[in-house]
Amino acid sequence: MTAQIISGKELRKEILDEVKLGVAEMKKKTGRVPGLVTILVGESPASQSYVRLKIKTALECGFHEIQDTLPANISEAELLARIEGYNNDPAIHGILVQLPVPKHIDEKKIIKAIDPDKDVDAFHPVNVGRLMIGGDAVRFLPCTPAGIQQMLLRSGTEICGAEVVVVGRSNIVGKPIAVMLAQKGEGANATVTLVHTATRDLPGHCRRADILIVAAGVPGLVKPEWIKPGATVIDVGVNRVGINSKTGKAILRGDVDFEKAKEIAGKITPVPGGVGPMTIAMLMKNTLLSAQLTLGITGDQVLDDADEKK
Ligand code: GUN
Repeated sequence: MTAQIISGKELRKEILDEVKLGVAEMKKKTGRVPGLVTILVGESPASQSYVRLKIKTALECGFHEIQDTLPANISEAELLARIEGYNNDPAIHGILVQLPVPKHIDEKKIIKAIDPDKDVDAFHPVNVGRLMIGGDAVRFLPCTPAGIQQMLLRSGTEICGAEVVVVGRSNIVGKPIAVMLAQKGEGANATVTLVHTATRDLPGHCRRADILIVAAGVPGLVKPEWIKPGATVIDVGVNRVGINSKTGKAILRGDVDFEKAKEIAGKITPVPGGVGPMTIAMLMKNTLLSAQLTLGITGDQVLDDADEKK
């Protein structure tokens, strides 16, 4: 039987509709809207294209959006001073510095300079620590792992008690999703194994997974015979494997052999159109949440109040 496709495109729309509703309620209640600044240093075409999409989505959500495009030769001190300005700007609830930054700038220093309460990427060490503690300590979930968790929840995948295998130990995806799904609480409570380049029996571990999350950055790494029949497969890989001669666009391939894997898995995410669209949606969710927390209103309160007025 062919697997159910978990569409990131469809879920992205669902989440952005929720964000738009939250913005409308906030505006009605406080006259304010969430504010996001996207800082882009230099002219990398890939970064420009990501930032364009983030700005477009923020504007669609009704956010106050500042696009701060800076020259590649800006000094580290100047960039730090700009971030400090946004830290102190009450109209800004989310600060995003598109990575990577040019080599003469220390990326770790830049991430640490962002106010953790405006760090909507959740890359600051304070937010990484909050994630480790879990529960009430968490302010923002990192966007790609948060998107993966939403894909599991919204597709009705049982996470509690499931055997989860995460392939790849990056700071942005592998490590945080492993921690999130192992926490005690809703949308978690899984038994998680984190496998990596030094793992002895990669296929053996993958075959045990009820939920297989692959974020290795190696096209076609996971073979169909590594997948347990009926498992949920989340492919985070976005690998550029060539250029389409007709459209001039990059040909993208995931870390899983999708065509064969979909005949074995119970549910699977495609590439493109899977995890990718979820990351920006969760960035918008984090920015709304930051504004709600700063203004002292919760999403639930806003919705409850709206219900009371009906
Ligand atoms: N560069 C690639 N992905 C990301 C991301 O999620 N956030 C930021 N700030 N930079 C990136």
